[in-house]
Amino acid sequence: MRILSIETSCDETSIAVVDYEKDSNTYKVVSHNLNSQIDIHKQYGGVFPTQAKREHGLNILGLLEQTLTHIESDTSHTSSDSVFEKAFQYLQKERELKIMTEEIYASADSFLHKKPSVDYIAITGGPGLEPALWVGMSFAKFLSTLWNIPLININHMEGHISSVLLQKSIIDFPALSLLISGGHTELVEINKWGSYQILGKTRDDAIGEAYDKVARILGYEYPGGPQIAKMAQYIRENTNAENKYNIHLPRPMLHHSDLDFSFSGLKTAVLYLVRDLKEKYQTLDDDMKNYIAYEFEEAVADVIKAKLTKTIKNKKYSTLIVAGGVIANNFLKEIISIWAEKNNILFLKPTADLATDNAIMIALAAHVALIHDYAQVYKPDDEEFEKLNPSGDWSLNNI
Ligand code: KG4
Ligand code: ZN
Repeated sequence: MRILSIETSCDETSIAVVDYEKDSNTYKVVSHNLNSQIDIHKQYGGVFPTQAKREHGLNILGLLEQTLTHIESDTSHTSSDSVFEKAFQYLQKERELKIMTEEIYASADSFLHKKPSVDYIAITGGPGLEPALWVGMSFAKFLSTLWNIPLININHMEGHISSVLLQKSIIDFPALSLLISGGHTELVEINKWGSYQILGKTRDDAIGEAYDKVARILGYEYPGGPQIAKMAQYIRENTNAENKYNIHLPRPMLHHSDLDFSFSGLKTAVLYLVRDLKEKYQTLDDDMKNYIAYEFEEAVADVIKAKLTKTIKNKKYSTLIVAGGVIANNFLKEIISIWAEKNNILFLKPTADLATDNAIMIALAAHVALIHDYAQVYKPDDEEFEKLNPSGDWSLNNI
């Protein structure tokens, strides 16, 4: 089974081809290309949706061509001009992409004339930034119609959960998943593939968002997560982490009875802390910033550990899957790993390159949905195909 997947939910345009080998129950990444827009969004301090949409539109054709370079094509297939016309209508909403696609299709030896040998096209249907999601969805519908390949609609968060399948292809359930990214902080119970129940989530900012906002307060560019991580690590490695400036930050929702999170108070506390330190010391130097980053990360880790501990009081889980961009963070990985060992739960996390958004995880989620018979498959001739739209707030509870 071979799947071509497309991801455009935020600021990464990514296309992959991933195989599943039934006999050995293994997944293999055949091809993957990714274009990150971080340099473009830096100037805005975060992802700017209309700009993200534009960039996806400009990059997606080139990424597809690169991804398909070494993929065999189905030489028996030819798409007539009438099929192209029909396919083309799905690009109506994407002006520049439509013009570029028309130009490429006009050349007889274009890659668009070679139907790749893939069984399905998987597309991220949400959650995410709607203008960005639309580019991927429109393009996927165009390709699906042009090549007559069925489409599978995939939830981006299910993609993040599936990102661990390259480490371990069989998951022991019940599993608990902690999803920590720039847009989400969710604790999810998984009793089997395709059955997700959100046990708790953030009431305001996501963890990654808090990292980004704190970095911004300290004067660093978007995305601030890696920078904060580096500063906190500096304190751990080069000092005995003594509290030089009497810095204390709150551990929000630590003693709440539910499993929800809240990080906007932590960010505000950093804002006041910076104001007070500047008043007291007449400056905010790198040493102080490093200590703030350190204390912020300690607070985040304490909250994560407390919520995980609270969760396992109610039910026993065999596996803990932590996914999303923030699990690229080595300190959090270590803290969670120690916690999991102590509590006798197998801890799975994606490799760093699969932690942040990518199309590989979308293909993995599509494979899983096919294997376990719950895939949302849309054939180009189906009535439902036309009606399929992305949804910016598609919850895991509604798979
Ligand atoms: O999953 P992702 O790529 O995009 C979303 O779906 O949101 O996550 C991006 C987030 C950003 O907030 C970024 O600052 C954070 O992940 N991040 C990190 C690290 N690397 C990326 N946060 C903390 N430590 C890191 N090393
Ligand atoms: Zn994501």
